[in-house]
Amino acid sequence: MAGYGKLQIGSVTLENNIILGPMAGVSDLPFRVLCSEMGAGLVCMEMVSAKAITYRNRNTNMLLEIHEKEHPVSLQLFGSEPEIMQEAVEMIKDRAYDILDVNMGCPVPKVVSNGEGSALMKNPELIEKIVSALVRVSDRPVTVKIRKGFSEASVNAVECALAAESGGAAAVAVHGRTREQYYSGRADWDIIRKVKEAVRIPVIGNGDVVDGESAKSMFEETGCDGVMVARAAQGNPFIFREIRSFFEEGTSCGRPSAKEIYETVIRHADMQLEYKGEYIGIREMRKHVSWYTTGMPGSARFRNEINQMTDMESLKRACARVMLGQDPPE
Ligand SMILES: Cc1cc2nc3c(=O)[nH]c(=O)nc-3n(C[C@H](O)[C@H](O)[C@H](O)COP(=O)(O)O)c2cc1C
Repeated sequence: MAGYGKLQIGSVTLENNIILGPMAGVSDLPFRVLCSEMGAGLVCMEMVSAKAITYRNRNTNMLLEIHEKEHPVSLQLFGSEPEIMQEAVEMIKDRAYDILDVNMGCPVPKVVSNGEGSALMKNPELIEKIVSALVRVSDRPVTVKIRKGFSEASVNAVECALAAESGGAAAVAVHGRTREQYYSGRADWDIIRKVKEAVRIPVIGNGDVVDGESAKSMFEETGCDGVMVARAAQGNPFIFREIRSFFEEGTSCGRPSAKEIYETVIRHADMQLEYKGEYIGIREMRKHVSWYTTGMPGSARFRNEINQMTDMESLKRACARVMLGQDPPE
């Protein structure tokens, strides 16, 4: 019976099978470090264009940075041309990622119209080709992340997962929504169970896991080998500690104190500034701070203030006021 515990993905052992999902614009280095510290068994990087890597795009370099404290970490490529993706893998071979993942779920028109992301699900043969091409050049396990299907009329996650497996994939993550659905509606966990029944490689279930209870239901209803949490981790790296304690101690350790949330936001911001500089770092922090403060009293009034933050001092002042009800502690 599958459930919470260690997970082997090719040569990589995850200490637990609760995984931070890849989120463009969210799962950057500072956020991944926080989630690792909270005990995520694996953290996934934001998707990176294989083509952009081969063009040596400067912004792409920043996306590829990895911190020594965030292992194991999965690097996700998007693309559709096996040779270009192979070339990208050659170019990033000195990067310290542990798992190489391929994005087969991105719904964004700009990506789909290039035949990338979820568009790959229209062509299972190409999925097998891409995976086997990457397995040939990669010294690390290759995994894929798919959706339920491209549309409700073409649900084919099982076929795509089998194609990835025969290409040599070491695991498959399944988001139980179609491309058509984007992120709306409930994720269909039945399709995750069908994929689990069809393949021998580990299956990671994804969609609508928000706490220990829902992670347990995901394991029980699908038989999956790991659970991936994405949106519920926004502004909430603590979720990994809570889910772990739910399974390890039989009860969730409960929500963090206001003081811990405040200190976490400040560390998050410090790392953003270190990696991205103050101008970009603080602007990036605006969305995180509004997630961290969702539901706190006065947080709606505070939105405006968040969107005006331009430096560390204004961030500290605003956060201390809403989270601690006082001026920033020294
Ligand atoms: C803001 C945002 C960015 C995302 N970026 C990626 C991405 O880069 N690669 C990917 O495979 N999935 C991406 N996803 C999809 C998530 O990894 C996940 O599959 C989806 O949100 C469903 O899981 P959830 O219900 O736990 O959020 C993104 C989702 C969101 C909300």
